[in-house]
Formats: sequence, structure tokens, C-alpha cells
Amino acid sequence: MKRSLSTRAEAMPASQIRKLVPFADQAKQKGTHVYHLNIGQPDVKTAPQVLQALKHFGEDVISYSPSRGDHAYVKAVQGYYESLGIPLSPSNINITTGGSEAVFFAFWSTLNPGDEIIIPEPFYTNYNGFACMAGVKIVPVTTQGANGFHLPPKEDIVAKITPNTKAILLCNPSNPTGTVYTRQEVDMIAEIVKEHSLWMFCDEVYREFIFEPQEDLYKSALQIEGIEDQVVVIDSISKRFSMCGARLGCVISRNTELMEAVLRLAQARLSSPQVAQVMGVAAHELPPETIPNMIDEYKRRRDVVYNALTQMEGVHVAQPEGAFYLIPKLPIDNTEDFAKWLLTDFSYEDKTVMVAPASGFYATPGLGYDEIRIAYVLNTDLLADAMSLLERAIDQYNSTR
Ligand SMILES: Cc1ncc(COP(=O)(O)O)c(C=O)c1O
Repeated sequence: MKRSLSTRAEAMPASQIRKLVPFADQAKQKGTHVYHLNIGQPDVKTAPQVLQALKHFGEDVISYSPSRGDHAYVKAVQGYYESLGIPLSPSNINITTGGSEAVFFAFWSTLNPGDEIIIPEPFYTNYNGFACMAGVKIVPVTTQGANGFHLPPKEDIVAKITPNTKAILLCNPSNPTGTVYTRQEVDMIAEIVKEHSLWMFCDEVYREFIFEPQEDLYKSALQIEGIEDQVVVIDSISKRFSMCGARLGCVISRNTELMEAVLRLAQARLSSPQVAQVMGVAAHELPPETIPNMIDEYKRRRDVVYNALTQMEGVHVAQPEGAFYLIPKLPIDNTEDFAKWLLTDFSYEDKTVMVAPASGFYATPGLGYDEIRIAYVLNTDLLADAMSLLERAIDQYNSTR
């Protein structure tokens, strides 16, 4: 008898961000330098204080920590939220192995197979994988580059609600669009969530990555009044402290029942890495200017990439307001092919660019084929060079077709 894989495994999509990696490896083997603009791996150096904490790890045993998180680290996270003006108790927080596990825990503790979750698209492509693992269906609300990928009117979102709808997910600031939702938009989502008794998942891993701060913005959905029991925040220190490899995030909610369920899920996987949590404590002790200085650097990068794209013929792009991504529309009708071609057929002065085709960031079939997602995670000089390569590549690709 032939053994088969699970339907879940069969349905699991390859990560749109990583699936071109073999072509990038081949390009590198041929001696081509590849600018990686396809993945949100910042080049910003992890703070020396954090690396010191790793170096001076003083325990005799690398052990499990409590499933909810190491006490010192939970306290550090609690203190961080306190500094934002958001009082939490330790039981509102469960440390996770990256923000990724926080998404799993949020989905697994609230959604049944067949349930629907409304997400503005384009969205972080790995939500597709998380939804597949939980057996839930993503119902997209399409947003448009022409208005900075801001939300459509309330009635367009409400029209997506069915008896199976259990949640709305907002990634704010947004990966992949760089949109920072206004207070009015967040309030509108909160209103829908309240009126239809839904969960509100807020992925806030880019919380500080806002380039034009506005006084009235929420620092977190945890500040919204009247839906305290429905808000589930997904957080991570991957980007905030440039510690992607530490794999540390957390789920936060004031809903006691939910957090008890999250803890049971967390107990099944025992704990998040202890060593990472020691580094995480050190990260939370960094001087307060650390994060704003990093945001200034990202703003300079945003400007280099955005300005270069606006000069390119046939390219349309909204100015990103936050995170470190943008989604330009290119004068190309199949960016999956183009992104692959960049690695297999194109190079200039032994260099090329790797980008993520945007179709994988949409749930609606057919959308995103003329768009790419760029992560501006290199310094401004390298980004300027990468943008001139991209411009040259677009010309060359179109002239050969
Ligand atoms: C929007 C968003 N959520 C969650 C994650 C997962 O982060 P982590 O590295 O903490 O697992 C990412 C990573 O890029 C992200 O962009």
C-alpha cells in the first residue's frame, strides 16, 4: 500500500519569500553577487550588550524554561509594555518561539478547521502557511497601492463576514505594504470586531517602525477600549532588536480563558529557548534611543528606495509609512517569472537583485502578478546600487520579450 502525505502537508504552500533560494544559490555559485531584498532579514548589527549576554551565559545547564516564558524575560516584556503605557500582568503574556509561533498559538487557540479569518491583502505571505496548518480559510479584503494600501470602507469589510467568520487580522505597520493604519481605520476594525463578536488579531512586530509619527495613533491594539477580551497581539523582537535568529516573540491578551489555552499549547512544546530569553532580557535593557536611531536609518533607506522607484518609467509605488517593505507595481505582467529571471539570466557587473514576487502575498487568484515586494534591509549605498540594477533589469527583461 502506498503511503500518502496528509492533505494539510499537500496543501502547504512553499514560502513565497524563500522559494527562489535555489536559483539565488546557483547565481552565487556562478560568481554573481545577489542583493537580498526578498526577505526581512535586517543587516542592522545586534547590540553588543545582547551578544555579551550570550557570551557570558552563566548557567551550567542549557535548560528548559517555564512554558509561559522565563520569569526574568516575561518581566522584561511586561516592563517594555509598561513603558508604552500599557499595564499588563504576567498572565497576559506568553513567550513564544518567534512571532511565528505566536501566530500559530493565536490561530490554534481560537479557530476551528473551516473557520474564516478576514485579512487585508496583500498580507504577510506566511499567514497562508499558518492558516493551512490550522485548517482555516483566509478571506481577503483587497487593498490598492493607489491609496497606500489603506483599508476600504467598513461596508466592504463587513460584506466579507459569513457565519464562519471568527476573526480579523491586522498587521500594523504592515508587512508587506508598509502601511500604517490610521486611528480611524483601527477603530473601524474594532467596531466590526465588537459588532460581530470576532477575535481581533494584531500583528505588531513592526510596532516602532513608523516614519511619520502621528499623535493619535494607537501604540498597540491593546489600548483599544471596549474589546479588551477580543484582542490578541502577536509580537516579536526579531526586527525591533535585530535578533531574528533568537526566535523570540510573544502572544498577549487580556482574555484569561484564551491565555490559559495558549499556555496549554505552550506546555506541549515545553518552552522557548532559554539562551534566547537571556539575550532578550539584555535587549530590553538597551538605552531608549536604540530603537529610534534604527528607525531613522530605515527612514533613510525608505527614501532611497522610494525615490529611485518613483523615477523608473512605468513603475508605480505608494510611499511606505512604516515597517521596511514596499510593493511597487512594475511594467511587467509576470513578476514570478521576472524574479526568477533576475537570478537565472540577469547580471550586471556580476551583480543581481533578489525580490519576492507579490502574487504570494495575495489570496485572490490572479492578483499581484505585476508587483514585487522589496525589503529595504541593506545600507543606503547598496540599496541605491540595487535599485539601478532593478531599473536596468526591467528594461532588459521587457526588451527580450
Ligand atoms: C508581519 C510578520 N509577522 C510575523 C513574523 C514572524 O517573525 P518571527 O521572526 O518573530 O517569527 C514576521 C517576520 O518577518 C513578519 O513580518
